[in-house]
Amino acid sequence: MPLFKTGSILNNGRIGIVSSQYTHGDRTWWQAARFGMFIHWGIYSIPARGEWMQTYEKLTAEQYAGYADHFDPDRFEPEKWAKLAKAAGMKYVVLTAKHHDGFCMFDSAFTDFKAKRDYVREIFEAFRAEGIRTGVYYSLLDWHHDQFTVDHNHPLRDLDWAELNKTRNQHLYCEYMRNQVTELLTKYGQIDIIWFDFTYARPGGKYPEEWEAEELLKLVRKLNPSILINGRLGLEGAGDFMTPEQYIPADGIRDQAGELLPWEGCQTFSGSWGYHRDETTWKTPHQLIAMLISHVARGGNLLLNVGPDARGRFDRRAVSALEVLARWMDEHSDAIYNCTIAPSEFPEPDNCMYTWNPATKKLYLHLLSYPVKFAFLPGLFGKVKFARFLNDHSEVKMLPPPEKHGNMTPQVSPDTLTLQLPAIAPDVTIPVIELSL
Ligand code: GLC
Repeated sequence: MPLFKTGSILNNGRIGIVSSQYTHGDRTWWQAARFGMFIHWGIYSIPARGEWMQTYEKLTAEQYAGYADHFDPDRFEPEKWAKLAKAAGMKYVVLTAKHHDGFCMFDSAFTDFKAKRDYVREIFEAFRAEGIRTGVYYSLLDWHHDQFTVDHNHPLRDLDWAELNKTRNQHLYCEYMRNQVTELLTKYGQIDIIWFDFTYARPGGKYPEEWEAEELLKLVRKLNPSILINGRLGLEGAGDFMTPEQYIPADGIRDQAGELLPWEGCQTFSGSWGYHRDETTWKTPHQLIAMLISHVARGGNLLLNVGPDARGRFDRRAVSALEVLARWMDEHSDAIYNCTIAPSEFPEPDNCMYTWNPATKKLYLHLLSYPVKFAFLPGLFGKVKFARFLNDHSEVKMLPPPEKHGNMTPQVSPDTLTLQLPAIAPDVTIPVIELSL
């Protein structure tokens, strides 16, 4: 049963989605999966100041390329990454084959600016061995390619663009992209997602025409009709899903008629995507779990990023974050997979979120902060057959609305279901109560 309908258009410049003009890939598995791993890995793991460092620090392609000589991931064991992703409950991976720096993590025949090993192949094999689907991230920007025209994001932006761009032919760069996308979609087994990044359509930026986006899109659909394409090519209605970044849309993403559209929030553990040694803004266990819940509770997917270090490892902070997710998902994945936003007749109580499985008619109450003794659920009295904690399947008692004794008892509407909670919360990051309707 589809959890969303295709509808009209929402576009904020970076994302565009859904219209009858374009065909779409197979979103069924993706919408059930709800949770994926993003991996940003490249030679930017060496400076360890995030994946935009080349342009922040205005390094020429030659200066930046020097890092390639020092790329020596001696602890690269993708099987470990895949096991951590699987344990955390992630069902798909999206891996940077080429980021904005232009460095290719796969063995492309069209450039020498590439890793000595075919990391994309090795990583995909390891993840597929764990039953995880594979998606490829491909940057539309390329700060290495000599035909990619200088724009306001480019490391050479302070120089004379007009002069520099005289010798640059963006069309040749677009051919290069199509050649590489063809390699990725024909030589790397089954690819389920292609994640283009990104369109910054304003003067001094780049419009879809400058990616020859229609042609790129046609090529992808021809090579793989069921693949999912994100919405960042900038073509209205073309993408299979939208990609809010570093925020969670308060009511999901909807079309003008109010229909929920497919979306995937991409988020980081600490701020940057590529490995950042000195970042201290790592999310707490509670924030991580609440973030996962919030995406599903608003009808979206979560693509959660890891930036492996220059030795080819997930660093300790990333591993502990993944372990937090693994521990919670081990007992609570029923409240994530196949779930979506709850019907509007069940308003969320304070400090709680609902996720809803429409096929099993189970409503999951996520207690973001643990209430004192009771939880009051408007609209649910008489509608719930059974209530239990998800972590140990222990019963949660259901009570009718409390009798009124002045202000000594809570004032609730007659349709409110009261749950009687144990004084001490279950020993999990965020407790979940499953309500069978
Ligand atoms: C951004 C950034 C980028 C990152 C991406 C992930 O648009 O350019 O570095 O890869 O978002 O969503």
